Amino acid sequence: MIHFSSTSYLGMNYHPEFRVLLNQGFEIYGTNYGGSRLASNVPNIYDQAEEYIANKLGFEDALIISSGTLAGHLLLTSLDQNQDFFHFKLLHPALVNKFIGKSSKEVNHPDELLSKIEQTHHESICILLNSIHPILVEKTPLDWILQLPKDKNFTIIIDDSHGIGVLGKDGNGIVSELKKNKSQNITTIILASLGKAIGIPAGAILGNKKFIEKIKSLAIWGGGSPTPPAYMYAYIQSEKLRQQQRTKLQSNIDFFKKNIPNIQDFTFINQLPVFKYKGVGLYEKLLKKGISISKITYPTKLDPITERIVLSSLHHYEDIEKLISI
Ligand SMILES: Cc1ncc(COP(=O)(O)O)c(C=O)c1O
Repeated sequence: MIHFSSTSYLGMNYHPEFRVLLNQGFEIYGTNYGGSRLASNVPNIYDQAEEYIANKLGFEDALIISSGTLAGHLLLTSLDQNQDFFHFKLLHPALVNKFIGKSSKEVNHPDELLSKIEQTHHESICILLNSIHPILVEKTPLDWILQLPKDKNFTIIIDDSHGIGVLGKDGNGIVSELKKNKSQNITTIILASLGKAIGIPAGAILGNKKFIEKIKSLAIWGGGSPTPPAYMYAYIQSEKLRQQQRTKLQSNIDFFKKNIPNIQDFTFINQLPVFKYKGVGLYEKLLKKGISISKITYPTKLDPITERIVLSSLHHYEDIEKLISI
C-alpha cells in the first residue's frame, strides 16, 4: 500500500538522517527530561532551540512546549480578557476554549472583520486565525492587516501549524507573507505545532519578549515537563536536511501537477502538498489499486466527506506515476 495522507510533509518522521540525529540526541540527553523548565538542572538545549526558532522566523522570542494544542491553550490562558475578540472561521481547537468559543465573534471575510472592528468601542482587539486549513485547503486572507485602524491596539494570533516548514522562504511559513508592518499598535503572534512538517512532538509560540515572558510566568508552563530534549537537538541540527526535503517536496508537487490529467478536479494552494478532490469516490477507487489517500468527514462526523491527496518528500516519482495512472 502506498500512502498519500500524512501531515509529515517533509517526511522527517521516517528520514534515516533525522533518526540518526535523534539517536545522537538520545545519547547526549537520555530518552526524556521529566522535570520543569524552571528547574536548575533543565538542559540548555531548550533555550537554544527557542533562540533558534525565534531568529529563524524573525521574532524577538519564542517558547517551545510539548504540543501545539498545549501551546494554543497556554497562549489563550495568557490573554487579557478585557479586550474584544474576533476569529476567522475554521479555527483549530488548539485556539478554542470556553471563553473564545463563547465570547469571540466569528467572521467569514476580511470586510466583515473590518466593519465589526469599526463598530467596537474596545481599544484592544485580539484576532485569531488559522493560516491554512489543511482539510478544506483554504488559506485565510491577510491583506486586511494593513487596513487596521491606527487608534486601537491589535493582537493577531496566527496558527501556522500547516505552513511552518513548507511555505514561504526557507520554510518560514506564513511570516514570509506578512508585510513587515512596523505599526506600533499591532502585535503579531505565531502559534505552530512542530509535529507536522518539522516532525517533532512539540508546539511553539513566537512573539515579542514581553508576550513570551508573560506566558512563561504561568503555572501551566512551569508545572509541565517539555518534549524530550533529544528532539530539540535533532531539530536544531536538521536545518539543511529540511531544506533538502523542501526541494524534493516541491519537485514532487510540480511532477504531480504537470502529469495528472485532471488537475482542475482538485483544490490546492501554492507550495502546500495537499490536493482536495472536488468530487467523491476517489478514495475507494484508489484503495482497490493499493493506494491510500486521506478521507475524512470534517469538522464533525455529520459533515460531508473530504478526500485529499497529500504528497510528501518521501514519495518517489514512481509512486506519483502509479497514483496518477489510475
Ligand atoms: C491547525 C492546527 N493547529 C494546531 C494543532 C495541534 O497541534 P499538536 O498536534 O501538536 O497538538 C493541529 C494538529 O492537528 C492543527 O492541525
